Amino acid sequence: MATKGFTLWFTGLSGAGKSTLAEIISARLVDHGIGHEVLDGDVVRTNLSKGLGFSKEDRDTNIRRIGFVAELLTRHEIPVITAAISPYKDVREEVRRKIGRERFVEVFVTASLDELVRRDVKGLYEKALHGEIKNFTGVSDPYEAPDNPQVTIDSELEEVEASADRIWNYLLENEFISINQPVLQA
Ligand code: ADX
Repeated sequence: MATKGFTLWFTGLSGAGKSTLAEIISARLVDHGIGHEVLDGDVVRTNLSKGLGFSKEDRDTNIRRIGFVAELLTRHEIPVITAAISPYKDVREEVRRKIGRERFVEVFVTASLDELVRRDVKGLYEKALHGEIKNFTGVSDPYEAPDNPQVTIDSELEEVEASADRIWNYLLENEFISINQPVLQA
């Protein structure tokens, strides 16, 4: 059950599937007895980042805080899963540098805006499209997609378990986790 520290950093628009995938990977780590921590955007914003809004400055502060905690844990060989929109490339890069490129696994979760509006799990896209929420990422605020993510997931084209398998396999193949079990076929 040897594990080295790494940060599995999900990025993508609200509703794309970051938290769902983070939960599945977390559950698999639990199944294999691998201790880890999850920093989910919505949860972080209710405590560590309580009071922050959605200006670029506040989002950057939010991401730097998540990155700070992720770095501390990763340094001590505790795997971390983060799931925040993290829309800005420069701050994602900053966090990647601090954690260390070799321990930072960026997972880009994407789906078309049409699909996100169709899903609208939290009812926020509807409001954003009607101007009731300002600066909503993907509608009225920017999202900068990663250039070279380690894994790209299109949640519109792939079943969630198949996506989770691909992420899991990436972690196995790159020896972030090692378990006594053959690599799953994606
Ligand atoms: S981030 O930009 O700072 O990374 P984070 O992931 O923490 O964002 O929070 C995003 C969540 O906040 C969304 O999933 C949504 O539920 C909620 N939210 C509220 N207002 C906004 C907004 N203007 N833009 C994006 N998400 C928002």
